[in-house]
Amino acid sequence: MSKLLRRLTLVVGAIAVIIGVVAIGVYVLSERAIRASVTVADESVVIPTDSASIARGRHLARAVTKCVDCHGHDLGGATIVDAPPMGKFSGMNLTRGKGGLGASLSDAEMVRAIRHGVAADGHKLVIMPSVEYSSLSAEDLGAVIAYVRSLAPVDREIARPTFGPVARVLIATSAAPLFAADVVGRAVPLAAAPPSGVTAAYGAYLAKIGGCVGCHGPTLSGGKIPQGDPSWLPAANLTPTGLAGYTEETFITALRTGVRPNGGAINFPMPWKAAAEMTDDEMKAVWAYLKTVPPKAYGGR
Ligand code: HEC
Ligand code: HEC
Repeated sequence: MSKLLRRLTLVVGAIAVIIGVVAIGVYVLSERAIRASVTVADESVVIPTDSASIARGRHLARAVTKCVDCHGHDLGGATIVDAPPMGKFSGMNLTRGKGGLGASLSDAEMVRAIRHGVAADGHKLVIMPSVEYSSLSAEDLGAVIAYVRSLAPVDREIARPTFGPVARVLIATSAAPLFAADVVGRAVPLAAAPPSGVTAAYGAYLAKIGGCVGCHGPTLSGGKIPQGDPSWLPAANLTPTGLAGYTEETFITALRTGVRPNGGAINFPMPWKAAAEMTDDEMKAVWAYLKTVPPKAYGGR
């Protein structure tokens, strides 16, 4: 009996040592990724100051690129993920108020944060959707920054993200693209946007910068959102297979009200409250684009 007990103690001890070694390995690897410093060459983007451009930037930031979803309705900062296993991730205060970055970030640093997911100090911004934003045209990017520059100051101290064990495992094993900076090329050129209008081409642009593709997947067939919190609901199938029960009209109603044609609710993290502010023409363009996407069964991104 005591021999058995001794053996059991040895096995338990060995397992504890292995767990300890793995935990240290995960910590060291994730810490290296979290503290990594990335260099991106400055890009120059014209930041307009006229009121039409600021209004365009406001519309983009609220309804299309949905900066408000993570940085708060006043862009003064907000917490988006707060679950001990993942950690606590907040979008920073982008205004010139106390605790805000608006006064300290240069235009080039704003461009780098938005297009490359890299902070002014070089760290990789967690869950900042720069993979999508790297497709913003120079004009639209300039308009968004012009709007950020015009914001009323908000005094709010926002802490930088902290990482829990699940986030650290995801980072250490590269199982989830939590850092857009690892995905976006360092030299992705500033492309032009297609002319705005109710066209599939403009709809494709909106679906990219609006995150529809980021969450619903490269083929839009839905499934688990790899760059999100693991507890998030999976995204729906937006290919013609998934949207078979929709018409242009009910699609617009769904985006405006968060209600599907069958009466069911569309839940978080689908950002329909922000998307609801898109114009009719923008929604029609996205619908026109979705009709051109190859039909595909749910999932299988
Ligand atoms: C899905 C959530 C999310 C969305 C949407 C988002 N951000 Fe962020 N953003 C973050 C988080 C989280 C941080 C802080 C991350 C960190 O420090 O690791 C951040 C940081 C930033 C920073 C700080 C850069 C620095 O030097 O520290 C800027 C600027 C920024 N975001 C601008 C924007 C703009 C403009 C938009 C819309 C075009 C936007 N963000 C949309 C999550 C988001
Ligand atoms: C942050 C991730 C995210 C973004 C960005 C996003 N979605 Fe979604 N969407 C979801 C999730 C998750 C669901 C499923 C919600 C549920 O099951 O209740 C969903 C559901 C939907 C539905 C309901 C589909 C059905 O089966 O009835 C539509 C329509 C939709 N999204 C369209 C869009 C469009 C268009 C865009 C871009 C403008 C977009 N989504 C952007 C996550 C996202």
